[in-house]
Amino acid sequence: MEANKLLVLSVVSVLLLVALCKLIKSLLVAKPKLKLPPGPWTLPVIGSLHHLVASPSIHGAMRGLAQKHGPLMTLRLGEVPAMVVSSPEAAREVMKTHDVLFADRFLNATFSALTFDGNDVAFAPYGERWRQLRKICVLELLSAARVRSFRRIREEEVARLLTSLAASASAADAVDLSKMIARFINDAFVRESIGSRCKYQDEYLDALGTALQHTVGLDLADLFPSSRLMQALGTAPRTVLVCRNRMQRILEQIIEEKTEAMDAGGEGAGESFVGVLLRLQKERSTPIPITNDTMVAVLFDMFAAGSETSSTTLNWCMTELVRSPAAMARAQSEVRDTFKGKNTITEDDIEGLSYLKLVIKEALRLHTPAPLLVPRMCREACRIMGYDVPKGMVVFVNMWAICRDPKYWDDPEEFRPERFESTDIDYKGTHFEFLPFGAGRRICPGINLGLGNIELALASLLYHFDWKLPDGIEPQDVDVREAPGIVASKKTSLVLHPITRIPPAK
Ligand code: HEM
Repeated sequence: MEANKLLVLSVVSVLLLVALCKLIKSLLVAKPKLKLPPGPWTLPVIGSLHHLVASPSIHGAMRGLAQKHGPLMTLRLGEVPAMVVSSPEAAREVMKTHDVLFADRFLNATFSALTFDGNDVAFAPYGERWRQLRKICVLELLSAARVRSFRRIREEEVARLLTSLAASASAADAVDLSKMIARFINDAFVRESIGSRCKYQDEYLDALGTALQHTVGLDLADLFPSSRLMQALGTAPRTVLVCRNRMQRILEQIIEEKTEAMDAGGEGAGESFVGVLLRLQKERSTPIPITNDTMVAVLFDMFAAGSETSSTTLNWCMTELVRSPAAMARAQSEVRDTFKGKNTITEDDIEGLSYLKLVIKEALRLHTPAPLLVPRMCREACRIMGYDVPKGMVVFVNMWAICRDPKYWDDPEEFRPERFESTDIDYKGTHFEFLPFGAGRRICPGINLGLGNIELALASLLYHFDWKLPDGIEPQDVDVREAPGIVASKKTSLVLHPITRIPPAK
């Protein structure tokens, strides 16, 4: 009996000793307290979420908070520590001065499911594989020469769009222009990606659309990555995975069909993305092997990163022009004077449309297509503007807020393309008050292709048609609310009556 008591006592004393040692150790080696950027008050478990969810958009809520807490602000999204950047100066620190430290992407459970666990380009961790894949994008898929080689596709797809608009115009029907723009961009991208129209197109787009709707980032599984229970309760990653598997099967099928066609000599390599990738695979000339899985991930990225951003931008251009009759009149007279007497616009003369380019710039400013860009992650602890940024912190650059900040823009909520007339501000990643395509190592490699598709279509829409709002709707009534998601598309469709002014060529 005595021996048992002694045993229990000694076990308890050992446990107490271990606990004491741990306490002493934690006090002795306690990390110095970090000076994190300020932020709003937090609640247990949910952190700062209650500040974000009541607002119509997360980037709008973040702007409100940053006005109180400053251009570098800490938030806790459930378990996830995050920093929000809301000024050009802070953006310069993150995307230029310390670019290499912030060159990782943040991969939550939903994005991981969507992007083949970050095996694509856009969400790949910073490193050799990403560098090689990006090189293929920049030098092979999205180079100026490749974008030029897609000219015929753009012109044919624009012609199809115009034909269908002219039919609605002669029937005096209103059209859902947002839907038609999305279809045009998708058709152009499908042909640029695989060289031809595709029987799986609608199924693919349906899966992509459903997946993108679940990328808001507020799913339980995304907010509590360490909790098994929350992984089980969260629905977005599972839904997205089902969609991704559907897209993966379609892409694999396309690759198989294209390989067979190329082997049979029926299809030349080159023109489309898949053709280029198959050629590189055959040549074995790239430092990383182009496996079929790599091809699937890259093709997925081209479409996912390029289509919705481009159609959203074109849609906002038309929406804002319809809301601003003076800007619409100026844009139309520029394009009609330039192409006077022609019944088709080609890319030859597009270069001279300087006001049209300002319209696109202004739409990219006022409706930054990716309002929080594509989130980055801090790779190594560092100090920014006097604050500590720990490794692993997620970084959102609130470009939407920066592009509407009255400190840098006069009347920022107004659509005024003229504001760019007397400045050299552009979107190439060096003017930190205007980065719709991001900046630094991970800047968008698809700027030329995106703008190529948008410019020809916009010029043609303005050249051939006048645009009338449905009866009873005034320009200022046109809805400018944004839909939630990584891309801020227009929440409701833009419905307009096209009136033919210069009939498109048959
Ligand atoms: C108006 C159209 C577009 C907009 C507004 C846009 C915007 C962006 C933004 C903000 C980023 C993140 C940049 C950063 O982290 O600094 C990005 C990355 C990317 N974009 Fe675009 N994009 C557009 C069109 C395209 C097109 C047409 C393609 C290709 C077909 C494309 C492919 C990519 C890829 C692959 C990345 C990831 C780059 C990397 O992580 O290294 N984008 N885009």
